[in-house]
Amino acid sequence: MTTLRRSILSVPGHRVSMHEKATASAADIVMLDLEDSCPPAEKEAARETIAHSILHLDWQNKTLCLRINDLAGPFALQDILTLIPKIGKHIDTLVVPKVETAAQIHYLDHLLTALNCDVGIEPIIESAKALRDAPEISQASPRIRCLVFGIADYSASINMPLSSISGHGENDGIYPGDPLHFVYSRLILCGKAEGLKVIDAPYGNFRDPAGLKISAARSRALGFDGKWCIHPAQIEEVNAAFSPTPEEIERAEQVLSAFKQALADGRGAAAIGDSMIDQASVRMAEDVMARAKASK
Ligand code: GLV
Ligand code: MG
Repeated sequence: MTTLRRSILSVPGHRVSMHEKATASAADIVMLDLEDSCPPAEKEAARETIAHSILHLDWQNKTLCLRINDLAGPFALQDILTLIPKIGKHIDTLVVPKVETAAQIHYLDHLLTALNCDVGIEPIIESAKALRDAPEISQASPRIRCLVFGIADYSASINMPLSSISGHGENDGIYPGDPLHFVYSRLILCGKAEGLKVIDAPYGNFRDPAGLKISAARSRALGFDGKWCIHPAQIEEVNAAFSPTPEEIERAEQVLSAFKQALADGRGAAAIGDSMIDQASVRMAEDVMARAKASK
């Protein structure tokens, strides 16, 4: 069964108390972070803290990921060489920030192979260059499991004003529509074309459940598979947004049964109430049922 990636809780690598809290959370994935939430002076000690947490805390079957530092910077190589031999077997993916080229992913893939580690890779797309080259990046390694949108760095890279680490819900009305709509759609297109999951950036205001609900529902409406969470309080809402509702499940069951009957009667389409359904509706219904099963 594929790994659920509805909610990805990001926790700073150097804060062991947050690791402990994360073990008790309902997040599908916990991502231990060595990059931007971990200050440069803490990076070396954080590697030890992360290794200790991964090996010794009770993660209750949670999927774990590790965000390393930027491959082009001074810390990433040591992150990999120190941690992969120790905890490579216990993590699902390396989350790779600020990926700029497919060549960086090739380099990482070779390095992991040399370390005899079969861990997956999650590139974060967070610059104009990465968004432009997203098709090549998405195809750069069979290890890639999903694409992640890094909203804050992306906004910085194109000089777009943003008041917190999330642009979601911050539209001040100056630009008609969602200024990031093209970005979301391109990422979803590039990821899905390669059969990858595509994960949205977090909602920055962790004390605004109503705003989070809208933000997560919009992500889901566009085809995102999950969303980062920057606080445990966001997980429940995000899991709900990316799980089928009872109404969606009921409708999917109706579609599957109506279409089965249509086929038995020699028809290629059927009506449910005033709506026509066909083979494409069946594919959507099957997706709903698969997600419902996985979300249990
Ligand atoms: C995440 O890394 C972001 O830049 O939003
Ligand atoms: Mg970033």
